[in-house]
Amino acid sequence: MARKKLVRFEEVNNNKNVLQEGKEYFDLIKGKWNSFFFQNDNPIVLELGCGKGEYTVGLGKIFPERNFIGIDVKGDRLAVGSNDAISANLDNVAFLRLSILELEKFFDVGEVSEIWITFPDPQSRLRNERRRLTSKRFLGIYSNILAVEGILNLKTDNEDFFNFSIEQLKIKGVKDLIFTDDLYNSNLLTLCHGIQTNFEKKYLSRGQKIKFLTCTPLK
Ligand SMILES: C[S@@+](CC[C@H](N)C(=O)[O-])C[C@H]1O[C@@H](n2cnc3c(N)ncnc32)[C@H](O)[C@@H]1O
Repeated sequence: MARKKLVRFEEVNNNKNVLQEGKEYFDLIKGKWNSFFFQNDNPIVLELGCGKGEYTVGLGKIFPERNFIGIDVKGDRLAVGSNDAISANLDNVAFLRLSILELEKFFDVGEVSEIWITFPDPQSRLRNERRRLTSKRFLGIYSNILAVEGILNLKTDNEDFFNFSIEQLKIKGVKDLIFTDDLYNSNLLTLCHGIQTNFEKKYLSRGQKIKFLTCTPLK
């Protein structure tokens, strides 16, 4: 394994703002993020498939009165966000190394106030439809952990995935669904708080249009 990756794995192991299997609180944290970890009553916001956690860290800086948790399976990517949060002294930011399918084991019903899904793998093959982060089974998971009136946001470059997501959300009967297929020429841009992710920057440099939607999934 590359040395840089090994260093990153060591960092996620040592950094107190990352929870992963084997670490303190990992098996106890469901329903107790605020009492055990953040030690306040502030709303909790998740970034799913956060990679290096640009939204988690960026929003953490803008909204000190909210708590942010970036979730990804890849420890080396989480290490980057974790280090950034430590450098910026953000005690309202944490990272969780986890598969999104396991979310309900780590968050109680209604424990989360908002979810960001940032540039997920589009899983373009039809046989992978169930793996898309906006497929029926994932939307069911989000609805369970989101508070009543909780918000779901999605940013993507992929048109087919975006259309699939809108279709799935309409089938679910979500409230207040608004979207744009050209974020940087839309008045919805303000809802994205001026943050760009690592993948977003790559897609923008290739001239691709960024798509964005926001809604309230029904219970
Ligand atoms: C295309 S990258 C985007 C990363 C980042 N959000 C960005 O915009 O730069 C997708 C990320 O989702 C993560 N991911 C994919 N499926 C996942 C799952 N089931 N659970 C947790 N993370 C997942 C991958 O590890 C990867 O870091």
